[in-house]
Amino acid sequence: MTSTMKAVGFKQHLSLENSESLFDFEMPIPKASGHDLLVKIEAVAVNPIDVSVRLNGSETYTDPKILGWDACGTVVATGDQVTLFKEHDLVFYAGDFKRAGSNAEYQLVDERLVGHAPRGMDIPEIAAMALTSLTAWEALVEKLEIDFDQPLLNKKKTILIINGAGGVGSVATQLAHLAGLHVIATASRPETSAWTKKHGTDQTINHRQNMSEQLYGLGYQDVDYILGLSDIDGHWEEMATMIKPGGRIVSITQNKHPLDLGLLKSKSAEFMWEWVYTKSFYQLPEMITQHASLEKIAALLEQGRLKSTANQIIEGINAENLKAAHAMIETNSSIGKIVLCR
Ligand SMILES: NC(=O)c1ccc[n+]([C@@H]2O[C@H](COP(=O)([O-])OP(=O)(O)OC[C@H]3O[C@@H](n4cnc5c(N)ncnc54)[C@H](OP(=O)(O)O)[C@@H]3O)[C@@H](O)[C@H]2O)c1
Repeated sequence: MTSTMKAVGFKQHLSLENSESLFDFEMPIPKASGHDLLVKIEAVAVNPIDVSVRLNGSETYTDPKILGWDACGTVVATGDQVTLFKEHDLVFYAGDFKRAGSNAEYQLVDERLVGHAPRGMDIPEIAAMALTSLTAWEALVEKLEIDFDQPLLNKKKTILIINGAGGVGSVATQLAHLAGLHVIATASRPETSAWTKKHGTDQTINHRQNMSEQLYGLGYQDVDYILGLSDIDGHWEEMATMIKPGGRIVSITQNKHPLDLGLLKSKSAEFMWEWVYTKSFYQLPEMITQHASLEKIAALLEQGRLKSTANQIIEGINAENLKAAHAMIETNSSIGKIVLCR
């Protein structure tokens, strides 16, 4: 192994027209210690968080900052405290918000955030899955407390998933369907509506029109659960209208304006946030649950019960291709996942 590697990074928060918004560079290959795995990256998926971190901020970094959270790759070295993995294991993960990302030839990642890759799948298909699956899993299982072992009980319950065809929605609809729930998802275009129906959604409504009226038209006064995967500010009042008394709402997108929590009071409905990086950001002991969740996701993928949501695969992990992927995410109209591979 040589001592340096190629990576893609940025020093200033710039729009894509600027050639320095993302650039190729070389740096030393990091060394694994403690719980870290050194992973040779084979494929990465691009997420809205990449775009958001690239764009938002005013600082100038001395060393380039490397983006990229989703990855699939091979373990090439392990730290002295590693117990869950060994060299040559193929792994997938969503990484840690604070550390150098996967847009590089090699990356360090804490083993507690990593899962063994499912067998029998192509590497780009696997790379598409970690961040969105973990987010959907934590929202459905840990926050909404949906019990996957109770499909008969869940059959009587309905979930509304706002943004059904995006990266997270494409997994959440599949998982909710597997749990036995009746799944209503939102989509505003024929192609996003068709995509979400292919991924576990029973019925669709359009998030750019009055949703509660459409729900009523489908025969529902309200729903047991709402999973908000886009624009909480824009949808908050309708979410409060559509949730059942005693129901639960979880959002993965942050509000830009104050939310009126009082709208949930008379219904005693609950509201929760989900951020997939909370556990690693605060180094919580529960970090290891991400290893366990990814192992479960891998089993579902291996059994064919969960399908990869990779929708576009680009060959070459470099600045030019990453810029193209960021440009697509910036349109806020992605369907499934965009993956870059070697
Ligand atoms: N908290 C966390 O841990 C976490 C994890 C992952 C992602 N996120 C955040 O969650 C959001 C979704 O992520 P993603 O990867 O699923 O996004 P994505 O793949 O980029 O979502 C694209 C989809 O968003 C839909 N959309 C656009 N505007 C909408 C609106 N106003 N209401 C509902 N849907 C709308 C579009 O559907 P149509 O074309 O049909 O309108 C499009 O297909 C992003 O903001 C991301 O940063 C948070």
